[in-house]
Amino acid sequence: MRLDEIKAAEAKLLLPTYERNPIHFVEGEGVYLVDEKGDRYLDLLSGIGVNALGYGHPAIEKAIAEQSRKLIHLSNLFFHEGQAKLAQLLTERSGLDRVFFCNSGTEAMEAALKLTRAYAGLLRSEGKTIGTKFLALENSFHGRTMGSVAATHKEKYREPFQPVMPDVEFVRFNDVADLRAKFSSDVCGVLIEAIQGEGGIRPVSKEFLSTARELTRSTGALLICDEIQAGLGRTGKWFAYQHYDVRPDVTTLAKPLAGGLPLGAMLCTEEAARAIHPGMHGTTFGGGPLACAVAVAVIETIEQEKLLEHVTDAGTYFRQRLEELAKKHAAILDVRGLGLMLAVEIDSADKAKQIAGEMLRQRIVINRTSETVLRFLPPFILGNAEIDIAVDALDAIFSGQAPQEVAAGTTGGKHVG
Ligand SMILES: Cc1ncc(COP(=O)(O)O)c(C=O)c1O
Repeated sequence: MRLDEIKAAEAKLLLPTYERNPIHFVEGEGVYLVDEKGDRYLDLLSGIGVNALGYGHPAIEKAIAEQSRKLIHLSNLFFHEGQAKLAQLLTERSGLDRVFFCNSGTEAMEAALKLTRAYAGLLRSEGKTIGTKFLALENSFHGRTMGSVAATHKEKYREPFQPVMPDVEFVRFNDVADLRAKFSSDVCGVLIEAIQGEGGIRPVSKEFLSTARELTRSTGALLICDEIQAGLGRTGKWFAYQHYDVRPDVTTLAKPLAGGLPLGAMLCTEEAARAIHPGMHGTTFGGGPLACAVAVAVIETIEQEKLLEHVTDAGTYFRQRLEELAKKHAAILDVRGLGLMLAVEIDSADKAKQIAGEMLRQRIVINRTSETVLRFLPPFILGNAEIDIAVDALDAIFSGQAPQEVAAGTTGGKHVG
């Protein structure tokens, strides 16, 4: 099908949930996407933080080919080696003890919310005083199902679906006094993204996260770190909370976990896992043999190719180049983020939208979040040459120069870098 045929069919047949860009991508290679005309686009978004190893990585292709010949799906009524192998890798890297596998970020958050409520119930049965309330942060994003959307701050995501899960209160971002004021024995869990993603690439302060740890520990409430966007190496460490020397009781993963196949995971301590018994929670597809085999390959590849170190180095270079840009252009108010989870804040929402659109016309994929924030979530394999292409294109756009030539893509041919 051609782009215009797809557009016409979608307009008639799909629930209108997305505002898509009018581009029809047909394949990918490394850090480039290729459209139906053969034009190449430098991808600095990687499927919103999913395609961490880029496109066509041989390790992913091999894992899919080998496992798909053996077994794609198996119900959770039987054993296969994938969940055990992957859980071993994840628990070793996270410092947590047990894993539940599901299919997406929001499902991992639902598992975390249910575990937290069940654990509070267990504590009450053991004579402790602990309530059912959750604290989440302003600007948070935890997903779209009725529990995780209730803990997602932006009104527009919750409002049309009220009543969503009750008993969530929002704390002002990085406001330790507000956290202390709102925390009490009514609270069973505190949800934090160490670096807020959709909220505009905003890192929480060390003081805020350590206060959340201290408060939750004092009552038995659980500290839940949502690592769905920041986790699995994107910030240069396996988990963003590891930059803070804080170990949460629960963490959630999804996006890059299975190299583009749907897979989510909720990890927790042995202590919290006491609350769960067979039959209390489950899923048909979660943790299937194919997704698990690919996730094992993703983690092994990140290690073998030393991608954590690479993300740190490439992220430092990218950030430095963005900071130079900020010195040159007054419209850039801030440069934020860690590793290859970076953003620049622009002085107007319209300008941010126009710049993201102009980058796309120059065949560089980025995205605007939180109205005024340009977000970069590239594949971990991004090189300095591609960072230069992107920053130079931004520089030209901010300078108001009409691009002389398309910066990233060349029609048909292979781009250097
Ligand atoms: C921090 C965070 N939590 C949860 C989610 C929800 O994940 P999913 O879209 O896989 O349900 C996202 C998605 O963007 C996210 O960034």
